Amino acid sequence: MSIQPAQLRKDFPILERQINGHPLAYLDNAATTQKPRPVIESLVHYYETQNANIHRGIHTLAVEATKAYEDVRAKASKHIGATNTEDIVFTRNTTESLNLVARAWGDANLQEDDEIVLSLMEHHSNIVPWQLLAARTGARLRYADIAPNGLLQIDSLRKMIGNRTKLVSITHMSNVLGTINPIAEIAEMTHAVGALLIVDGAQSAPHLPVDVNQLGCDVFAFSAHKMLGPTGVGVLWARPGLLAEMDPFLGGGEMISIVRPEGSTWAEGPHKFEAGTPNIADVIAFGTALDYLHDLGMENVREHEKHITAYAIDALESSGGITVHGPRDIEARGGAVSFEVDGVHPHDVSTIVDAYGIAIRAGHHCAQLLMRYLNVPATNRASFYIYNEEHEVDALLNALEEAKRMFGNVDSRTAV
Ligand code: ALA
Repeated sequence: MSIQPAQLRKDFPILERQINGHPLAYLDNAATTQKPRPVIESLVHYYETQNANIHRGIHTLAVEATKAYEDVRAKASKHIGATNTEDIVFTRNTTESLNLVARAWGDANLQEDDEIVLSLMEHHSNIVPWQLLAARTGARLRYADIAPNGLLQIDSLRKMIGNRTKLVSITHMSNVLGTINPIAEIAEMTHAVGALLIVDGAQSAPHLPVDVNQLGCDVFAFSAHKMLGPTGVGVLWARPGLLAEMDPFLGGGEMISIVRPEGSTWAEGPHKFEAGTPNIADVIAFGTALDYLHDLGMENVREHEKHITAYAIDALESSGGITVHGPRDIEARGGAVSFEVDGVHPHDVSTIVDAYGIAIRAGHHCAQLLMRYLNVPATNRASFYIYNEEHEVDALLNALEEAKRMFGNVDSRTAV
């Protein structure tokens, strides 16, 4: 059944808020999403009835908490179509997942003059860990270009991937342009030279049906808080066998098998990478978020976002004095819509629309290489999720008219 945002909104207490005397229009979902009541209740339920440390105790609470935590590993695995639950590692966020691979796989496999291929549309989380890896190993970084229509220049990427390439790390969906990259095609060219393909799924896992086997990548990373779950939970999936090839990232409790004075051996599977007490409560609540999304159906989530994104792009482009970045083909993009209002700094735009209760993001969106490519210091970004409705886009457009009026935009003056 299609998504009914007006119904869903009742599950999100924060959406009842008035901001500056106006109903909240929350259009900053690429930064983080709001949480439905069942997710919030799941946190309370855990602390009120199950709180215990996991994988350690053999008392009832510890057994219950361990089961609840491990059940989410299976749910996260299913969410991305993974074959084995044991290939899922819980981290703090996508950033930590990518850093883990850079340390645990990168340090062991890269050397001087090897090449790491990225793209100009990457989030800093998918740039800086590789820059640090390059600095440690002497490897070189290469950045694939973007075409004027906001798509990755796939031919330039193909030429860039060669015998020196050891890893390619690409976003599945741009957090600024909304571009969805052709991961299966990139996987083919990456594997043809024996390199590893890492996918930053922070913006895709919340919004699209994802199947890592169809994508053909080696690593896929995403975050709970961008998909109705709590902050502080990230997921790292690695193709079967890859985790076993990697040394631990952090040492400590729970990641060991045997500790002797002269050294230690490691736990099997994902536990090798989950040192210390993990974020138990938030992982369990993430499981509730996954249940909520799958009750809706990821195909339906995608359909709703295609609809509202097309509506927003059309409205922004029709309004005059606004430049929209990113692909226009709705099949090739998700719901992060970046734009500029002519002559008005994005921070001013964001402040003005906030006065009308509308939350959008302004800034470089942790994508300074992309800002440089677009030749702008910053953009505004509206980004959508399951609870957004057309009237919120209309409210944004009305508030943008106010921004144009205040800053003397000529188009707007003649329009009113
Ligand atoms: N990565 C998040 C964003 O794009 C924080 O807003």
